[in-house]
Order: sequence, then structure tokens, then C-alpha cells
Amino acid sequence: MASDVEPLVLKSPTLRWIEERLPLLSFGYRHLVAYPTPRNLSYWWNFGSLAGFILVVQIITGIVLAMHYTPHVAHAFDSVEHIMRDVNWGWLIRYLHSNGASMFFAVVYIHIFRGLYYGSYKAPRELLWMIGVVILLLMMMTAFMGYVLPWGQMSFWAATVITNLFSAIPLVGEGIVTWLWGGFAVDNPTLNRFFSLHYLLPFVIVGMVFLHLVALHTHGSNNPLGIDLTRKDKIPFHPYYTVKDLFGIAVFLLVYLGFVFFAPDFLGHPDNYIPANPLVTPAHIVPEWYFLPFYAILRAITFDIFWIIPAKLGGVIAMVASIVVLFFLPWLDTSKVRSARFRPIYRIFFWILVLDCLVLGYVGANPPEGWLVTLGQIATFWYFAHFLIILPILGKLERPLPVPESLSAPVLPRGAAVPAE
Ligand code: HEM
Repeated sequence: MASDVEPLVLKSPTLRWIEERLPLLSFGYRHLVAYPTPRNLSYWWNFGSLAGFILVVQIITGIVLAMHYTPHVAHAFDSVEHIMRDVNWGWLIRYLHSNGASMFFAVVYIHIFRGLYYGSYKAPRELLWMIGVVILLLMMMTAFMGYVLPWGQMSFWAATVITNLFSAIPLVGEGIVTWLWGGFAVDNPTLNRFFSLHYLLPFVIVGMVFLHLVALHTHGSNNPLGIDLTRKDKIPFHPYYTVKDLFGIAVFLLVYLGFVFFAPDFLGHPDNYIPANPLVTPAHIVPEWYFLPFYAILRAITFDIFWIIPAKLGGVIAMVASIVVLFFLPWLDTSKVRSARFRPIYRIFFWILVLDCLVLGYVGANPPEGWLVTLGQIATFWYFAHFLIILPILGKLERPLPVPESLSAPVLPRGAAVPAE
């Protein structure tokens, strides 16, 4: 909790005058400087601040791109080429933004799997986790609409395929699709509203991240041992974690800028350098890499379910359910122990889940033919089984290893006195 920290002492009368009227300095001090943080956080705890860093980069580069981009079907593609060739440093701003989207997902996926490994979603951090899932959904919507804006072949056909999914909803589906398109096909009104929402949603994400951090600072960070810590086991956030987070950002920049400067189109699809053409369908319509596992789940349902739910609707339900299930995770995992360090069997299932998601990604990247269809169905089944069957049962059956009572217990020899602060 942030309430048991040393108070901020301001020497400058001007700062004191401001502070008495608008206590922003003490707020920043309490939450960024003195904030008590577990001593034992590993580098896996760098990914939250990294995600925040990329969010800021995406917003700044996005605002500059919007100054030169034209959201009209006749001009969008050319305006992106204009940014790349004519605008000063336009190529850099665009590549920072397009690769930034990929980096954002990579970092947030690691952030999520860290949470899964260390049980960070468990009480009292359930809402912190659920707000995270809302952020993930908002990120997906933002990235999907952003990808449509260059109005290349993949932009157009991705928009067509994904918006068409809503037509699977019985009775109202067709009406919803027409409403989303703003007409009877993906066209200028669709591009316009996608641009408008793509600009808006990142600011909604900023608001949600604020709530995420309020929830985080209410109970404080979890830690690799997953145990509740006392005040003695915590240190002020600054300087140790500010420096550690800055180091993380420096390492991250090496990877990010490596893509931007040396392989800027590696993560994209070459077809998106062909202007959108509603009369020519690309041979394989594939989403960006970060959507591939979900795309595989969407295509895994190739059969009608109980003769009532048609395959297409089943696929949409499965894809939506693959995220919705995360909201219930804090209650699906019945184990009292948080960290996988003390859960030997859960640890194995955790790594199988990681592998399963990679398999889903591979299946999503390839045409749904032959054995890949079966593999996609098995991997989809396993994904849901992990959350809905394995976790609830495992929590009851697994015998966890002895959990240390305090942070010092695992590092000090048995019987050694805990050093005074
Ligand atoms: C824009 C995206 C996000 C940002 C900027 C963000 C930011 C942060 C930050 C700064 C922290 C504290 C440092 C850390 O523990 O790494 C944190 C913790 C956490 N985040 Fe996120 N987050 C984002 C997305 C998500 C998502 C999508 C989820 C889950 C679905 C999530 C779940 C959590 C959890 C459970 C914690 C507590 C971890 C712990 O204390 O062990 N976050 N987040």
C-alpha cells in the first residue's frame, strides 16, 4: 500500500504553494518514488513499464502519421506512400508505428504469460487482471482498425473477412454488418469510421491503464514467490526499479529498432503493398502474426455444433470465448498457491499451454488443409481444456511444494537471523 510511505518534504515555497492547491507532486512521489515494491522482482516485471512505454510511442508516432494521412479510399494508399517517400523522416515514423504495434503485442503477451506463471491474477488482484483483459480487447480492436488504414490488399480483405463474421449472428447479423460498414460493402464510410476509432481507442486504453495501475497500487505487486510480503520485504520504487525499468527499455529498444532499421517489413505481409482491389481476392488472407492463434481458433470449428449452431457461428463463438475465458481465470484456478515455482504439475501444464499457443499460431499462418485442420482442432480443444478442465481440477489435486513464509526464508540458511532494516 502507498499509505505507509515517508511523506514528501518540499523546500521550495513555490512548490509548496502549488502542492497545497493541487497535490500532484505528492501523488507522483507516493506512486513513482517512495512506492513500496517487493525486493525480489525479476526481469519479468519489466514488461508492464515496457508496455506503457510503447503505448506512448504509438500515440506520438500515430498523431504525426495522422497529420499526413488521408482517410479516403481514393487517397489512403497514396498518402501512406507519400509519408514514406516525401515527408521528412516519414518512413521512420511509419516504421516505428507499424513495428511498434507488433512489439506492443509481443510485450503484452509476455506480460500476460508472466501473470499466468506467477498467479498474479489471484486474490486480491482479480480486478487488476480483468482490467488487463479489457485492455487486451481494446488493443486488438485498435490494431485491427489500424491495419485497414493503408488500404492495401490485406487491409481490405482482412476488414471484409472480420466484419463479415458478424453476419453469423442469427437474425440481426446481416443488419449489424451493414451498420458496421456504413453501407453495403467495405468502402469509404468503413475506412472513415475505422480511422476515427483507431485515433480514439488508444486514449481509452490510456484511461484503462490508469485504472490498471490504481488496482495494482492498492495491493502492490505480486512477486516471483507469490507470497504476501511485509513492509520489511519491500524497497522504495526509486531508484532501484526506475533504473531497472530504464535498463529494460534500453534492451527493448535494441530489438525494436533492430526491426525498424534492418527488417522493417519482416513482420508485415507483402500483399499490403498492393492497393486494395475488391475484385481480386489474395490467395491466402492472413492476419498479422499476433492474431494468428485466434484466427486458428476461428477456423477450427468446421462442423455444425449439435445441429443448431452452424460452423461459422461456432468459430466466432470459440474465438470470442478464447478471450472471455480469461475473465473467469481468477475463479477457474482453484489452487491457493500463486507462484508456479511451488506448483510442479501446474508448471508443466503452463509450458504445454505456451506450446499450444505457438501451435495455434502456426496453424493460423497456414491454409486450413489436411492434417493442419485436425492439429488446429486439437490445439483449440487443449486451449479451452487448460482453463476449463485442468485448472479447476489441478488446484484441488496438486500437492504444492512448501511455500516460504517470508522473502528472506529461501535465501538465508535455516535458523539464521533476519537482518535488521
Ligand atoms: C497497455 C497494456 C498494459 C500496460 C501498459 C500494463 C502495465 C502494467 C504495469 C506497469 C504493471 C506493473 C509492472 C509489472 O508487473 O510488470 C502491470 C502489472 C500487471 N498487469 Fe498489466 N499492463 C498492460 C496490459 C495487461 C494485460 C493485457 C493483462 C492481463 C490480461 C495485465 C495484467 C497485469 C497483472 C496481473 C499485473 C500484476 C502483476 C504482478 O504484480 O505480478 N496487464 N501492468
